[in-house]
Amino acid sequence: LTVLTSVDQVREAKVMGCALVPTMGALHEGHLSLVSKAKRRNESVGVSIFVNPTQFGVGEDFSKYPRNFDRDCQMLEEAGADWVFAPQTEEIYPRASTQISVPIVTELYEGKLRPGHFEGVATIVLKLFQICGPAQAIFGLKDLQQCAVIKRMVEDLNVPVNLHFEETVREWDGLAKSSRNVYLSSSQRAIASKFYLALQHCGQGLTNGENVPGTISKAVQSLESEGFSVDYIDLIDFPTFHPTATLGDFNAIIGAIRLGTTRLIDNLLLFPPQNMP
Ligand code: PAF
Repeated sequence: LTVLTSVDQVREAKVMGCALVPTMGALHEGHLSLVSKAKRRNESVGVSIFVNPTQFGVGEDFSKYPRNFDRDCQMLEEAGADWVFAPQTEEIYPRASTQISVPIVTELYEGKLRPGHFEGVATIVLKLFQICGPAQAIFGLKDLQQCAVIKRMVEDLNVPVNLHFEETVREWDGLAKSSRNVYLSSSQRAIASKFYLALQHCGQGLTNGENVPGTISKAVQSLESEGFSVDYIDLIDFPTFHPTATLGDFNAIIGAIRLGTTRLIDNLLLFPPQNMP
């Protein structure tokens, strides 16, 4: 595994045309599965590790976000990644920088609850694409709204990269793998899988013709009675990422919950990801 820590080193390593897996480190099996899928698409697979300060809001977990570079590198080596790019914040953001803002898809949900978050994501992802010049970039579908934002940005700005969105990797009980799962206490962890179960229930109800608002509010109520604080559960439409009251061709059930101070997001896509409009 070649470790690259500056933009010049990336340039010298001539990684253009690679497959890139952008991450914030604290890697888990979800990331490693993106690496192995990238490996099938490209000879050279690189992973960026950068805890991007601009996508964290005031009072969010930027300073306590888990960081373990040595362990990450060991995992990447085992997963067959060729190189890792781990830049310094000062090099990425030497001054207040140009920001990418993607309209419509960012209006609601994470975009509304975390102001500035998607500007931070879109800006760093575009910068990583400019620095590394990947032919392919691979993202996990757990962050579904992020996938929609990156897709729009790439299309709107004609960025020459092929995007691939890969299915969420889950724990044995259905909880989506996330770097933030380490924040859960054992009692929170014991009930956390009910979140995905609730999304699955909603999905079954809706595909059986149940009415949308009723099905969603039942899910919210049942989670809240179990001790979850629900930020939202909704049926959304692609490509707008706005709510819909009827099932169409491109829908997903999305959710965000809090267990104590830990916030988790998850979703259930109701169409094959490769068809994302
Ligand atoms: O999904 C993530 O880990 C981050 O949002 C990303 C895409 C690496 C940008 O910082």
